[in-house]
Amino acid sequence: MELRPDQFKLMLPLPVTVITTVDGHGVANAAPYGCVMPILRPLDLVAIASALPRHTLHNIRETGEFVINVIGAPSFEKAMLTARNYPPEVDELQEVGLETSPSRTVAPPRINDALGWIEATLDREVTGKNYSLVIGKVLCAEINDRFCSDGRLAEPPALMLSPYYHLLGGRIGDVRETMKLFLGDQPPQGE
Ligand SMILES: Cc1cc2nc3c(=O)[nH]c(=O)nc-3n(C[C@H](O)[C@H](O)[C@H](O)COP(=O)(O)O)c2cc1C
Repeated sequence: MELRPDQFKLMLPLPVTVITTVDGHGVANAAPYGCVMPILRPLDLVAIASALPRHTLHNIRETGEFVINVIGAPSFEKAMLTARNYPPEVDELQEVGLETSPSRTVAPPRINDALGWIEATLDREVTGKNYSLVIGKVLCAEINDRFCSDGRLAEPPALMLSPYYHLLGGRIGDVRETMKLFLGDQPPQGE
C-alpha cells in the first residue's frame, strides 16, 4: 500500500512525552510532544520538532531549558490534557493536576508520575517556514525510581501506536479530536 509522502509517520511509532518549560517570569508550561528523538546513540543530544507558534518553543528560546517527561499509563490521561490551548500565564501542570518536583539541573519542573526525565539546554535550532527543530544538550537523564524494578524500567512507555499515531497524519492540531481519542470517546474513523 503506497502512502502519501506526508503519511510516512504511520509507520513510525513515536514516544509520548510532555515537555515542561518555564517562561522568563518562572511560569511553568507543559505540552505533549511526540516528535522527540535521540541524535545518535553515543551522543548526549536530543531533538524535538515543534510547530510554530508554541508556548513551549517560546519558553525554550527565552530561557534555553526544557525537560522531556517520558509518559506511561500512570500519567497518561492528565498528560494528554496539557494539549489544551491555555493562555501563557496559566500553569498547565497545576490546571490538569500533575504534581511536579524541581529538576536537578534546569528550572523547568519534572512531572512526578513520569517514567523518567531528560533535562536539556538549547544547543541549536533549525527553523523552517512552519516548524522548528530544537536540538538540546542533555544534562541529566533519570528513570523514576517509583517505576524501577531490578534496575529496570518496569512500566512501558506510552507510544503513539495505531490508532493513535495517525493523529500525526494531521490531527494533532485538533485538540478536541485528540482529547476524544485519548480519553476513550468515539474514535474518529480513518485518516
Ligand atoms: C500526543 C500528542 C503529541 C504531540 N506532539 C507534538 C509535537 O511533537 N510537536 C508539536 O509542535 N506539537 C505536538 N502536539 C501538539 C501540542 O502538544 C499542542 O498544540 C499544545 O497545545 C502546545 O502547547 P504549548 O503552546 O503550550 O506549547 C502533540 C499533541 C499530542 C496530543
